[in-house]
Amino acid sequence: MSAEKTNQSWGGRFSEPVDAFVARFTASVDFDKRLYRHDIMGSIAHATMLEQAGVLSAAERDAIIEGLTQIQGEIEAGQFDWRVDLEDVHMNIEARLTDRIGITGKKLHTGRSRNDQVATDIRLWLRDEIDTILAEITRLQQGLLAQAEQHAEVIMPGFTHLQTAQPVSFGHHLLAWFEMLSRDHERLVDCRTRVNRMPLGSAALAGTTYPIQREITCRLLGFEAIGGNSLDGVSDRDFAIEFCAAASLAMMHLSRFSEELVLWTSAQFNFIELPDRFCTGSSIMPQKKNPDVPELVRGKSGRVFGALMGLLTLMKGQPLAYNKDNQEDKEPLFDAADTLRDSLRAFADMVPAIKPRIEVMREAARRGFSTATDLADYLVRKGLPFRDCHEIVGHAVKYGVQSGKDLAEMSLDELRQFSDQITDDVFAVLTLEGSVNARDHIGGTAPNQVRAAVARGKALLAAR
Ligand code: ARG
Repeated sequence: MSAEKTNQSWGGRFSEPVDAFVARFTASVDFDKRLYRHDIMGSIAHATMLEQAGVLSAAERDAIIEGLTQIQGEIEAGQFDWRVDLEDVHMNIEARLTDRIGITGKKLHTGRSRNDQVATDIRLWLRDEIDTILAEITRLQQGLLAQAEQHAEVIMPGFTHLQTAQPVSFGHHLLAWFEMLSRDHERLVDCRTRVNRMPLGSAALAGTTYPIQREITCRLLGFEAIGGNSLDGVSDRDFAIEFCAAASLAMMHLSRFSEELVLWTSAQFNFIELPDRFCTGSSIMPQKKNPDVPELVRGKSGRVFGALMGLLTLMKGQPLAYNKDNQEDKEPLFDAADTLRDSLRAFADMVPAIKPRIEVMREAARRGFSTATDLADYLVRKGLPFRDCHEIVGHAVKYGVQSGKDLAEMSLDELRQFSDQITDDVFAVLTLEGSVNARDHIGGTAPNQVRAAVARGKALLAAR
């Protein structure tokens, strides 16, 4: 077994170096280096607090902050030499600090452990990610509102069981997505409050003997609250699971949305046009224009659900407090956040560019007996019980299927075969406009109501 010498901050207790493969196997730097900014932010707050607590001198604090700031510059300039033998982002930065400022660098870790350090870093990182994601949700919702406002009067078939059900406003349909995204936004805002609690000061697991002042680091780092138990502080990953749950729901919504866009762009539906820049062609079939962006988003939902399952499974068997298992939290969490953010971004760019094929939608709504319920409701208003009306209209539809006529295309005499309650005024309810206009209540599909919903939506976004 090869056992080349590796750098170790725990060297004292060990009589042989860690096996080289084990060093690589246990290292996390390849993926946790993306936490560098938040790691440095946490360290600067910690050093600032240590000085106020009398643990570091002002000169030591300044040297540490100066060194960390320069290290951040090195990293951002691509000049930092990440070393796998230094295991993770924390030890890479700390070792470089000691390189740069000497012995004072070794004092930074006073009253702290990588256990509370990493828990702090991920929370700071995730807080920023959530903010970016929230902004993308809002941008997508703005696009939906603009489209809904513009197309409040455009009529399409609404579906149940993917069978033509009743006519709806295209704007109304789009606002269904707006509602889902509003809930996604709420969930992430709520999740953020539990992300934004500070574990720093938990140290390895039991707290520290130094006179730390956690209120100071809490304030400096913008946390809303201080974690109340050190054991929980280093081991809690609920916040990451909660984020993945909220992200999974958002991806599920985007996936359903994607599915509709894929259907709608097909030659069979032909309801919308997606601009070429969101599509790709086929290398063999020249006629193809594939809705790649929605398809990919639909596919990517799986990896976010996977992250949720992965993190739940990661945590379920862990005794208190920190265990190395926790290092496995990062890749799924990073991937879930990246996937959701990028999917939202693609949708926010794409949605404003969707063009409905208004005549095709209208024709599809007209063809599918979509105003059958309106005819039944009409007969109810004439005094018949709803069940009987349902049956009467069923016969009329059967006749329509056989004769190839939609309800609105039948003559009064034809319609009166099914009920003598039907009179001239029936045609007003059989039109698509009559049908949507009649659903004139909060949450209904009447264009008036769609415009009212757009106004409510704008107010909601303005209040964020
Ligand atoms: N790289 C570790 C992680 O991601 C940092 C904490 C390690 N702590 C320890 N005691 N080994 O969880």
